[in-house]
Amino acid sequence: MSKHRFSEAEIQAVYRVIGERRDMRHFLSTPVNPDILHRVLQAANQAGSVGLMQPWRFIRISKVSLRQSIHALVEQERRLTAKALGEREDEFMRLKVEGILECGELLVVALADKREQHVFGRRTLPDMDLASVACAIQNMWLAARAEGLGMGWVSLFDPEALARLLNMPAGSQPVAILCLGHVESFYEKPMLEIERWARPQPLENLVSENSWPTQE
Ligand SMILES: Cc1cc2nc3c(=O)[nH]c(=O)nc-3n(C[C@H](O)[C@H](O)[C@H](O)COP(=O)(O)O)c2cc1C
Repeated sequence: MSKHRFSEAEIQAVYRVIGERRDMRHFLSTPVNPDILHRVLQAANQAGSVGLMQPWRFIRISKVSLRQSIHALVEQERRLTAKALGEREDEFMRLKVEGILECGELLVVALADKREQHVFGRRTLPDMDLASVACAIQNMWLAARAEGLGMGWVSLFDPEALARLLNMPAGSQPVAILCLGHVESFYEKPMLEIERWARPQPLENLVSENSWPTQE
């Protein structure tokens, strides 16, 4: 056994937070303690990033009118997404896909501008900046869950329209709207599974050895 291992209780806590993290769309409007928000953002900033470029930027939305404008953008894209889904349009429209107006804190996470200066790890894979932002958001999701807060990742928006709304510079790009806040309870399973929209695959279906799996 490794001498670097955490205590048994600490290990269980890590796996528990991973297992009980949920993408949340139902929130209470109770405010989020600023110290907790700070810790969650610190967790984000401790994520790994390609070449240590920290491509993430976090914009806290505190103006009510701006929150409403963001909600309107998401609503517009939700309708377009529903149309694009064809026969599942009505089913999609019945799903709750965001909690923007209810959540205690609303954040927009963006890729910074001038990313072309960072070549390390991105010469052949420029998307690794986006992968780094995803790592930061995952850290937030886990830290928030441990703090007893829910977080919902919303990607239903036109990035150019959101960038305009937030006065973002050329070369930057919003990648996530995050709803953060207190919740009545956490979903026991992914909400899309509960609503029978999708079913997660077991690990065995997704792991292979030495090559891409052959068709049986
Ligand atoms: C990159 C990314 C974008 C997502 N965008 C949305 C979204 O726009 N609306 C939504 O309701 N859920 C969104 N989700 C949440 C997923 O639907 C959710 O993670 C998935 O159903 C599994 O549920 P769980 O996170 O509770 O395990 C997003 C998740 C990720 C990782």
